[in-house]
Amino acid sequence: MKKIAVFASGSGSNFQAIVDAVNAGTLDAEIRLLVCDQPSAIVLQRTQEAKIDSFCISPKDFTDKTAFEKEIVQQLKSRDVEFIVLAGYMRLIGSTILQEYAESIVNIHPSLLPAFPGKDAIGQAMDAGVQISGLTIHYVDAGMDTGPIIVQKEIKIHENDTRDDVQKRIQQAEHICYPKVLQELFTKETTNSVPRFVGKVF
Ligand code: GRF
Repeated sequence: MKKIAVFASGSGSNFQAIVDAVNAGTLDAEIRLLVCDQPSAIVLQRTQEAKIDSFCISPKDFTDKTAFEKEIVQQLKSRDVEFIVLAGYMRLIGSTILQEYAESIVNIHPSLLPAFPGKDAIGQAMDAGVQISGLTIHYVDAGMDTGPIIVQKEIKIHENDTRDDVQKRIQQAEHICYPKVLQELFTKETTNSVPRFVGKVF
């Protein structure tokens, strides 16, 4: 059973999908902690309902990023966390966390990276007029959405789609894909639905 922490800053619908998969027995993980940097984030309500420990932390309370991340690492280590799952965490992971959790941090991003990294990936894709966007699950490195790609899924953008339409479609796919890919990473089993090849689109 992999001991994980989920990092989120917002609504936490991906966090919820991971909780649901754990509860359904389709994801062999134990969610030891939810780390959040926004005290009013909806994801914190979800942790209460799910009875999962949460830790809310603001960088403003620390002299620098190193001190901020050292506190997070301490919280993770005290709960024996082995793996970090970023799910809408709106902050770059710095060297302190990266060193402690090398190759054990993944992120989900709502575009086909390397296209449209950073904020509002869906808006960026729509402004660019692309007809296909999607989602990417990737390992985290020091860059902004630049780590090695694990899996991507294409989502079509139709002519009359609003931003909300596209976001809804991408998030529906995220909620299915993220728990499946995590299970694949944690168990190293091969399934037909989730290829493990870097860069594979499914
Ligand atoms: C997701 O669309 C994810 O791709 C991006 O942030 C969003 C988080 O949504 N990194 P939620 O908080 O899980 O609902």
